[in-house]
Amino acid sequence: MSRVMSSSGEAEGNIEPPNPNQLPPPTSKWKLSLIFFSSSLILVLAISLGLADLFKAHLLRTPLSSNRTAFHRIFGHFIALGPRRHPDSDGADPSSYASSPCVLWMAPFLSGGGYSSEAWSYVLSLHNHLRIKKTSRFQVGIEQHGDLESLEFWEGLPADVRSLAMTLHRTRCEPNRTIVVCHSEPGAWNPPLFQTLPCPLYGYEDYRYVIGRTMFESDRVGPEHARRCNRMDYVWVPTDFHVRTFVSSGVDPSKVVKVVQPVDVEFFDPEKYEPADLFSLGELILGQRLSRKEGFVFLSVFKWEFRKGWDLLLSAYLKEFDGSDGVSLWLLTNPYHSDRDFGNKIVEYVQKSDTSVPVKGWAPIYVIDAHIPQSDLPMIYRAADGFVLPSRGEGWGRPIVEAMAMSLPVIATNWSGPTEYLTEENGYPLPVERMAEVVEGPFKGHLWAEPSVGKLRRLVRRLVSDPDEGRNRGKQARRDMIRRFSPEIVAEIVAQEIEKLLQS
Ligand SMILES: *[C@@H]1O[C@H](CO)[C@@H](O)[C@H](O)[C@H]1NC(C)=O
Ligand SMILES: *[C@@H]1O[C@H](CO)[C@@H](O)[C@H](O)[C@H]1NC(C)=O
Ligand SMILES: *[C@@H]1O[C@H](CO)[C@@H](O)[C@H](O)[C@H]1NC(C)=O
Repeated sequence: MSRVMSSSGEAEGNIEPPNPNQLPPPTSKWKLSLIFFSSSLILVLAISLGLADLFKAHLLRTPLSSNRTAFHRIFGHFIALGPRRHPDSDGADPSSYASSPCVLWMAPFLSGGGYSSEAWSYVLSLHNHLRIKKTSRFQVGIEQHGDLESLEFWEGLPADVRSLAMTLHRTRCEPNRTIVVCHSEPGAWNPPLFQTLPCPLYGYEDYRYVIGRTMFESDRVGPEHARRCNRMDYVWVPTDFHVRTFVSSGVDPSKVVKVVQPVDVEFFDPEKYEPADLFSLGELILGQRLSRKEGFVFLSVFKWEFRKGWDLLLSAYLKEFDGSDGVSLWLLTNPYHSDRDFGNKIVEYVQKSDTSVPVKGWAPIYVIDAHIPQSDLPMIYRAADGFVLPSRGEGWGRPIVEAMAMSLPVIATNWSGPTEYLTEENGYPLPVERMAEVVEGPFKGHLWAEPSVGKLRRLVRRLVSDPDEGRNRGKQARRDMIRRFSPEIVAEIVAQEIEKLLQS
């Protein structure tokens, strides 16, 4: 039941050959649409009504749990759940289509992963925008596509957001008046390379426009993905870095449009939160717990994968500091195709490395691997003095912009996504030592950055020794996030792109 649209979302594993027969004959299009729509709706209802209790056990295990998630907070002031759909839209009659043009956003809304939170942030911003600016001529519909559904994630959404999701999901769009946004990795686009609802659902030419919204973390786009991008009318990417890498990989320059991502600066606002009690959340892996609470707290937030440069972070931190420095490093992490035993992985890594135990003992490292509800995330950022993420490549870097919105000084690699927003005025761009070949996974053979451990050591030391500079850069970071990526600003950008297409 929960795996109706199962896919790994990754290029490795679970790839099934595209099935050219999965498209319906043109005459049955709207019927099929109805079946798809209602079966997904039934799924959604079943998840929310029937299976909820089964999954309660997984939920909100932390003492910080509250009822409000980011979506709720984003949405809190503007959820207007009046019926958006056409009165007849449950009828099997094409005359039931929405009366105005549509944007149908197809994305892994229910997966809880990176594309999921991105897609929500666009759709919620856009929804708010349309509610306020009555001049816009289009409606928004949403459809789950491109990755697995997570019951834990869906259950964690507040009832009003789930209700809004269902309302948007009921918007019935007439294909030839619809702009479809396929917000997912290109392997999920029609014909999909794994089992998922195809995007676009029918032929590309059946819609007014079809837009792919995607991004990558390496220096290029593989040939199959580039071909899929060129099949789209437009490809939206979040940064200038991606405009360059997509175009140099053969994606038609006239199709590539930069559309930045929103960050919820209202929700991620340091003024609104008290710091979390980190000690109640994390487990000490290395070193001694500080007797003094006032030490400098480094925070990193990432999925446990090589790309995130956790090895570089451990190496720089453990070489630069020892138990007498009064610093601590907190890793908020979760598994990515890996088991949960991060403590052992860290200890193993340290044992194998060339770092020997300092006389004063290791500087402490803590791991937080409990499920942290989105609503509690700001309190965790709030408990930190600095944020550090030496990734080898980032599409956008959501935890980085969240930390910046929370006015934290940020150290992040000066390459790929973060180059869109990270400067020496609002943070600490970490210089790259060299480009390195990706040795495994879907980007094998591409290049990404190998940040300099030596420079990382200097930057973490600088944060500790000049906290005023850090605080000033953190304040500038929040100003920049508000100015460039607040939901209202980004919704305006998206709406303008859409209006432009509808008028053409
Ligand atoms: C959580 O929200 C639901 C409705 O969204 C409400 O009925 C319930 O009382 C809330 N629970 C708490 C603990 O606030
Ligand atoms: C759109 O498709 C409908 C059938 O669903 C058709 O009646 C209508 O003429 C089409 N409109 C345009 C502008 O092609
Ligand atoms: C970051 O990279 C850009 C080029 O992409 C370069 O101009 C800039 O000097 C770099 N900044 C630092 C601090 O390395």
